[in-house]
Amino acid sequence: MKNIVLTGFMGTGKSSLGKITAEKLGFEFLDTDDLIEQKTGLPISKIFDGYGEDYFRELERETARELAALSHRVIATGGGFPLNAANVEILRDNSFVILLLAKAETIFGRLVGNNSRPLLQTDDPLNVIRRLMDERKEYYDSTADFFLSTESGDLDKLSDTVIAEWRKRGFDIETD
Ligand code: S3P
Repeated sequence: MKNIVLTGFMGTGKSSLGKITAEKLGFEFLDTDDLIEQKTGLPISKIFDGYGEDYFRELERETARELAALSHRVIATGGGFPLNAANVEILRDNSFVILLLAKAETIFGRLVGNNSRPLLQTDDPLNVIRRLMDERKEYYDSTADFFLSTESGDLDKLSDTVIAEWRKRGFDIETD
């Protein structure tokens, strides 16, 4: 069965929605950030601080390659994962890719006071969110099979929608 891959900006709900969707399907939930932290033994913030963003992006590429052969998974990706379109392309054969969307203000409200996102540790995070969303829009849009707004925050309903869209396309049929 094809995986469900969730992409989108930080704070769009990829991990929360991914977990509940996986639970409903009886699939394993994976999160590329968690896999990178497990592999390096370091929190994302330390990887950025100590080794830089480019090194983190290389770890994302490595992780994408490792996930390519898997099925029956719900995979939440880091917010910058689709910046290298090949990361998503390598998963596409075996996955339905859903882009989660939320307004910059909503994302700001969800992430305020959370210091685990190195890219948002600035004096004006709302503006950085707006700028990055704008810069990334093309990458997000061009790599997604389906778009889903998470503005409502209703994870139960949203996960039902994810599963219904996945089923609608016949991706719940055994393909491996
Ligand atoms: C990033 C998003 C983060 C994490 C890293 C970089 C980004 O993941 O991968 O801090 O570039 O948008 P989340 O989207 O899970 O917060």
